[in-house]
Amino acid sequence: MRTKNLYIVWCLILILVLEGCSGKKEEPENALLYEDEIEEGHDYIVVGFAQVGSESDWRMANTASFQATFREENGYYLLFEDGQQKQENQIKAIRNFILQEVDYIILDPIVETGWDAVLEEARAAGIPVILSDRSVEVSDETLYTCWVGSDFEEEGRVAGRWLADYLKKEGRDEEEIRIVTLQGTLDSSAQLGRTKGFDDILKNHGNWTMLERRSGDFTQSKGQEVMADFLRTHSDIDVVISENDNMTFGAIEAIEKAGLTCGPEGDIIMISFDGASRAAFTAMQEGKLHMVMECNPLLAPLVDEIIQKLERGEEVERIRYVEEQYFDASMDLEAVLETRGY
Ligand code: AHR
Repeated sequence: MRTKNLYIVWCLILILVLEGCSGKKEEPENALLYEDEIEEGHDYIVVGFAQVGSESDWRMANTASFQATFREENGYYLLFEDGQQKQENQIKAIRNFILQEVDYIILDPIVETGWDAVLEEARAAGIPVILSDRSVEVSDETLYTCWVGSDFEEEGRVAGRWLADYLKKEGRDEEEIRIVTLQGTLDSSAQLGRTKGFDDILKNHGNWTMLERRSGDFTQSKGQEVMADFLRTHSDIDVVISENDNMTFGAIEAIEKAGLTCGPEGDIIMISFDGASRAAFTAMQEGKLHMVMECNPLLAPLVDEIIQKLERGEEVERIRYVEEQYFDASMDLEAVLETRGY
């Protein structure tokens, strides 16, 4: 009997040792969900993209750029997650990408802080993280491989310099100028950068007063709501700085509803950011909007370039800014539109 028991114990030990040697680990329940969808014989680069949401025209153009670039015919399999403007959704998406053993994670972070833990998890899983559009503030910069996007601070400075030049041309550079700002999602890189950049110029103009700043969360409905509040509180607004076009469209509605006008012939100077859809150009052509500082949404080809370099084992730039310019109502906007891909 004792010999039989010893035999069973030895068999169990042998099974455990053999399993250990085979390196086989338990598959997480929802791992590699995409595997069934991948055509046999194909070896795609699997990319998980944690997008912010679908709050603006810019965002739509940005998502379209990723969906057009990260296609199977280009050697990619894209897992796309819409964070619906909530950081917890994006964190969940990243954890899911890790479980699914993707090759790369692309993150467009809603806000800058609160990413350390999940980026540590991605690093522990050996998955490179590429930041696109917005950035993060982390204790260890090596938690992400690189970042590609807009110089948001410079965008804000260009808008400020444009306003100074415009007021000068109009002979109003000595006048008291009262400004309100519709800010984007608070603590997002786009909001922080644009607000800071505009401030850099504001502080050089003693006759400019910032009456109020409030977030319209980058959406048209919130932009309209906050602008209507501004108009109720301040009877003397000269300039609206709107940190994206959709809030601008909402603000124009609120201004017109209040019986006022905006644009070069109107009561209020309107300055916007993005220019990622025809609508912003139409607003300038209709004389309702003075100036748009471009924010380029076509980031996917640059991220593709980065991944291809990493695949070849090459070094990549840690920070890469996209080229941008401003457009204003005095330009030949039809000619500009003919050159644009969105
Ligand atoms: O992060 C880019 C900003 O996010 C765009 O300006 C805005 O439209 C979007 O929602």
